[in-house]
Amino acid sequence: MRPFDMSPDEFRRHGHEVVDWIANYLENTRDYPVVPRVQPGDLARALPASAPEQGESMDDILADFQRQVIPAVNHWNHPRFHAYFSVSASAPGILGEMLATALNVNSMVWLSCPASVELEAVVMSWLRQWIGLPESFFGMIHDTASLSTLHAIAAARAVADPDIRHKGAGQGLVMYTSRHAHSSVEKGALSIGLGRDNVRLIGVDSEFRMDPVLLRQTITDDLRAGLKPFCVVSTTGTTSVASIDPVAAIQDIADEFGLWHHIDAAYGGPAAIIPEMRWILDGAARADSLVINPHKWLFTPIDLSAFYCRRPDVLRQAFALVPDYLKTNQDGVAVNLMDYGIPLGRRFRALKLWFVMRWFGREKIVSILRAHIQWAAELRSWIEADPRFEICAPTRLSLVCFRLKSGDDASRALLDAINASGTAFLSGNVLDGRFVLRFAIGNVGTTHDDIAAVWDKIRSLAG
Ligand SMILES: Cc1ncc(COP(=O)(O)O)c(C=O)c1O
Repeated sequence: MRPFDMSPDEFRRHGHEVVDWIANYLENTRDYPVVPRVQPGDLARALPASAPEQGESMDDILADFQRQVIPAVNHWNHPRFHAYFSVSASAPGILGEMLATALNVNSMVWLSCPASVELEAVVMSWLRQWIGLPESFFGMIHDTASLSTLHAIAAARAVADPDIRHKGAGQGLVMYTSRHAHSSVEKGALSIGLGRDNVRLIGVDSEFRMDPVLLRQTITDDLRAGLKPFCVVSTTGTTSVASIDPVAAIQDIADEFGLWHHIDAAYGGPAAIIPEMRWILDGAARADSLVINPHKWLFTPIDLSAFYCRRPDVLRQAFALVPDYLKTNQDGVAVNLMDYGIPLGRRFRALKLWFVMRWFGREKIVSILRAHIQWAAELRSWIEADPRFEICAPTRLSLVCFRLKSGDDASRALLDAINASGTAFLSGNVLDGRFVLRFAIGNVGTTHDDIAAVWDKIRSLAG
């Protein structure tokens, strides 16, 4: 009995309604325009400026959800959502998320929820095995890759500058990443007070991969200038073109100069589950840390970022700070995840990944990811066969970058027309000074017919 809460009967009634709504939504997502037809401020203006004094009925709240909120939703779950990276919440993942929300545990220390802490360790180990990382990697879950990478950079700095914990930041530290690295790498550096000038953006080769020769040269120059190189971040599946940095060659350089090597495999990492794609993480076993986002290309509802680190002792050294009220009898025996990072409170994110991994199993996951990669290759061949278009980067994973040969304005206009049509959602980018369209494939509901239909639409809109 919860005297102040909704009654169990009322909860049951609305709960069934909500689950029915979700089931219908997943079945009929295609009926929605992918991109909402709203202008900035439309929804905010339609809603009351202040919260109600008296509680309202759940019938009214759900009606307004349907009438007011849904028309302003961009449907990331739509099978023709091909912008950014195409992500999706699979049904088993949604069920896991619902249960995690109901339990509402906070797994800051083992004692505050043993199930959450231990399930996190189990799913991190399962995923580690799927992508071929050795047992020496400790795994934990963060909300986003941005936070995972921030932790890696902070840990790297704790190694390079042991005084930091008590005396604060020293001077002269520099880190390295590619010109095509995600902005979260620089943001991580900014967040720990490193300064953008101390992040070297290394040039890339003709396939947009970090050039190890340039990396080595830049490190050598910095050492000569009396600076202290401490960290390099490589990327497996860059946001701009899904290029794959030469992880093993970068690791050799990291070893030679004693740098922490973090791998951003936020998007591309899942491809390593496919046996013939395992090579994308060759050399990763020797890295210090790696991030892979099941909430991107592994059908797990946002948010869930898996962070692996071969030096958990360093994470503890950088982040452990235990107030008396959080000390427990199990300290030293059990893992208290709050000691390994910034957040104290932690959601039961592991549950949804456990559901996803068990329900699909590795073989089915492999077959879906393989299909996405094959469809991207096929789409590329269709684009190559149309003389109005040009391909702008190699297609290694499930992202295709292309443009109209007639130029930037025409390419931008084409992107706007596709998105305004409601048929599909693609995003744009500027690559080497030229505007390109990005067609990302990764949604669990996407079919080969979807890809063909979106390509037909693109061709017809291209005039
Ligand atoms: C390669 C790569 N790294 C990191 C990120 C940041 O991910 P998150 O939104 O989980 O912080 C992205 C986002 O798309 C990405 O593409």
